[in-house]
Amino acid sequence: MHPPSSLVLLGGLASASAASAASPGDLSLVRRALPNGPSGNYSPVAVECPSTRPTARAASALSKNETSWLALRRNNTLDPLISFLTAANISGFDASSYIKAASTANVPNIGISMSGGGYRALMNGAGFLAAADSRTPDQPSAGSISGLLQASTYLAGLSGGGWLVGSMFANNFSTIVQLRDGYAGSDLWRFDNSIFSGPSDDAQDSGSSNSNTTTKKIKRADGTTEIVERGIISTADYWTDVADQVSAKADAGYETSLTDYWGRALSYQLINAPDGGLDYTFSSIALTDNFASADTPFPILVADSRAPGTTVIALNSTVYEFNAFEMGSWDPTTYGFVPTEYLGSNFSNGAIATASNSHCVRGLDQFGYVMGTSSTLFNQFLLTNLSAAADVPSFVLDIIENLLTELGDDNNDIAQWVPNPFYKYNPDTNDFANATQLTLVDGGEDLQNLPLHPLIQPIRAVDIIMAVDSSADTDYNWPNGTALRATYDRIFGDIANGTLFPAVPDDNTFVNLGLNQRPTFFGCDASNFTLTADQTVPPLVVYLPNAPFSAYGNVSTFTPSYTLAQRNGIIENGFNAATRGNGSLDSSWPKCLACAVLSRSFTRTNTTVPAECTTCFTQYCWDGTLNTTKVETYEPTLLLEGASSLDNAAASLVGGWGKAVIVATSTLLVLML
Ligand SMILES: *[C@@H]1O[C@H](CO)[C@@H](O)[C@H](O)[C@H]1NC(C)=O
Ligand SMILES: *[C@@H]1O[C@H](CO)[C@@H](O)[C@H](O)[C@H]1NC(C)=O
Ligand SMILES: *[C@@H]1O[C@H](CO)[C@@H](O)[C@H](O)[C@H]1NC(C)=O
Ligand SMILES: *[C@@H]1O[C@H](CO)[C@@H](O)[C@H](O)[C@H]1NC(C)=O
Ligand SMILES: *[C@@H]1O[C@H](CO)[C@@H](O)[C@H](O)[C@H]1NC(C)=O
Ligand SMILES: *[C@@H]1O[C@H](CO)[C@@H](O)[C@H](O)[C@H]1NC(C)=O
Ligand SMILES: *[C@@H]1O[C@H](CO)[C@@H](O)[C@H](O)[C@H]1NC(C)=O
Ligand SMILES: *[C@@H]1O[C@H](CO)[C@@H](O)[C@H](O)[C@H]1NC(C)=O
Ligand SMILES: *[C@@H]1O[C@H](CO)[C@@H](O)[C@H](O)[C@H]1NC(C)=O
Ligand SMILES: *[C@@H]1O[C@H](CO)[C@@H](O)[C@H](O)[C@H]1NC(C)=O
Ligand SMILES: *[C@@H]1O[C@H](CO)[C@@H](O)[C@H](O)[C@H]1NC(C)=O
Ligand SMILES: *[C@@H]1O[C@H](CO)[C@@H](O)[C@H](O)[C@H]1NC(C)=O
Repeated sequence: MHPPSSLVLLGGLASASAASAASPGDLSLVRRALPNGPSGNYSPVAVECPSTRPTARAASALSKNETSWLALRRNNTLDPLISFLTAANISGFDASSYIKAASTANVPNIGISMSGGGYRALMNGAGFLAAADSRTPDQPSAGSISGLLQASTYLAGLSGGGWLVGSMFANNFSTIVQLRDGYAGSDLWRFDNSIFSGPSDDAQDSGSSNSNTTTKKIKRADGTTEIVERGIISTADYWTDVADQVSAKADAGYETSLTDYWGRALSYQLINAPDGGLDYTFSSIALTDNFASADTPFPILVADSRAPGTTVIALNSTVYEFNAFEMGSWDPTTYGFVPTEYLGSNFSNGAIATASNSHCVRGLDQFGYVMGTSSTLFNQFLLTNLSAAADVPSFVLDIIENLLTELGDDNNDIAQWVPNPFYKYNPDTNDFANATQLTLVDGGEDLQNLPLHPLIQPIRAVDIIMAVDSSADTDYNWPNGTALRATYDRIFGDIANGTLFPAVPDDNTFVNLGLNQRPTFFGCDASNFTLTADQTVPPLVVYLPNAPFSAYGNVSTFTPSYTLAQRNGIIENGFNAATRGNGSLDSSWPKCLACAVLSRSFTRTNTTVPAECTTCFTQYCWDGTLNTTKVETYEPTLLLEGASSLDNAAASLVGGWGKAVIVATSTLLVLML
């Protein structure tokens, strides 16, 4: 029997005291990105262009901004990397001397990839990030991967994984514990409030600098402000506000779609600011202190494009990324980037006309709209549930109905980026060169439900990708490697443009060999790649599948609300996946992960692989074995001894705010279907 201490870990993190420490008026704990949208509301606005006018650039190099940022970041990862590797205690290996002696190019370059999968992906991914973050208090040392986040350079997310990454960065790189526990009166991560009903009356906008404890000032979309009492936001008010906000964007002359509504609704839960941060932009991340000083990894959100006149997202669809500096694609089709801050400007062949009446536009990269763009799969979810939800004003439903009529059913899953920033750009290869609208969809719709694409670009020279997969592949919403295989398959097409990826087996092999229940390393043998002259060895991939360790975290992608106990239980399950149950499933896990981190560097420096690492690789590397026997059903039971049910685990998790909730809803904790 393993003591249940491994189960209560995140519960030990004082959720109650964190919540009570901040009074609603105490702004010292309120952490956020920057509200720098020029309109002060949800609408983009025409602004004067900067003296150096924004342009598109070819994807043949990293941006200057990313390059100079990396110089800071790579240096900042050295000490955390040394701590992480030293704690792993690889026999005969002196981590500190090795890293200090290494040239920058030989220092392990770590990327983290958070799959889609709605709230399930957000919560399971959060468990991983909590484990990897050295700021998470009270972590036991057994099984610990603490500090890996601080040692990482890139953090990519798509769809639900994009909500996780987005929420972290919209809230000033808050820790998972802070996001989970929120702040007094905040709506942050209150997934017990259905996204369709809106924030509950005990969770108001404590972040507003205009707030006091009994009232708050809200800014209406028409620019007027209104003082309202706390605790009275109703579903009707919530949707009325959202509709006003989106209408203001339309009135200002910008296309709006269901994605705007979805992104707005998400923001109320994910961004700790009044009305979900109306004027928070994705590019503002670049202006936050901790990002600017490279004390955080480099966040990237992914979306796919849907070629004009098509409704299917093929595996060779052009993949776009949003980062704090730029938006665009590495694919040989579009093959270019524009500054994220100036999305909405009228680019033509990569330039904004210089005529005296031409201007730049800022604010289209509204934070929630970017998160919504990466998760358009949920537009349909919004549609279905909104009409069924109580108290949604009929005029809101009418607006949405009209949007649909204009777009057609085939188009309800798109985010329209108008004007198309790549209009007339690379006209021979760019699908959208003649289109005034760039049509983006959920980053997982091409089956690449892990955002690996930004991390396998040779120019980024990533050595290892932590691939946290919360996909719903099997009948009961567990991953089976499909996301990895999609990226592997894609390297054989013309779209690959030189990218490579480790070989991964078929879905049946994943399940038959249990590769969906434990971490597996792919691409361990750097000599097993056939490289052309201009290619380099791709990253080693550490696959971390969602599996039931302490809780059944296989909740359906389209579950609109979760009790706080469920939420915490799933986060904790992700934590257990990341730490092998605090080492109870394998005490050598941190060592083996450290070996994986070092693997590509060892190859480049011709370092003899330490014996303990060889043992680890025998244990964790996929060796090419297949078992393609067709899987009939996959219905796993809890993998950690002593973890009998979510109810038990959850009871100790929720500290101050949960007991009543648990009692009231424990019969609803039917997660298996
Ligand atoms: C952001 O977090 C840092 C600590 O990481 C803190 O020093 C800073 O004050 C925070 N900024 C805001 C605006 O809350
Ligand atoms: C990007 O770099 C340019 C100079 O190359 C600089 O003017 C600009 O401010 C940078 N952008 C950000 C967001 O740091
Ligand atoms: C590298 O990081 C260390 C520790 O964070 C810092 O003291 C040093 O100034 C940095 N060096 C450069 C060149 O940025
Ligand atoms: C490191 O491992 C050695 C055995 O190889 C052991 O004797 C030592 O106690 C370990 N150190 C720590 C800090 O765990
Ligand atoms: C809160 O704000 C309202 C409206 O601005 C004001 O009337 C009231 O006095 C304020 N209360 C406190 C305690 O500041
Ligand atoms: C994508 O694949 C389809 C079908 O195989 C092909 O017609 C199309 O040209 C490909 N597009 C790109 C950009 O490679
Ligand atoms: C990638 O695509 C671009 C644009 O088509 C091309 O110029 C470049 O040579 C390609 N790179 C590789 C490695 O194929
Ligand atoms: C766009 O239009 C130009 C000129 O009409 C044409 O040559 C080009 O093939 C078109 N590109 C695409 C992707 O349709
Ligand atoms: C794996 O997932 C895919 C969907 O992503 C599904 O079509 C397939 O049947 C699954 N296979 C197994 C063995 O679970
Ligand atoms: C392949 O997997 C099936 C199902 O797990 C198992 O019954 C069978 O023994 C495996 N075959 C081999 C050769 O290991
Ligand atoms: C490693 O060995 C290869 C040849 O096997 C050599 O080309 C390379 O320069 C060596 N690298 C280092 C860092 O010694
Ligand atoms: C080695 O490469 C071959 C060819 O790409 C692939 O089929 C095989 O699965 C790879 N082996 C491993 C262990 O990844």
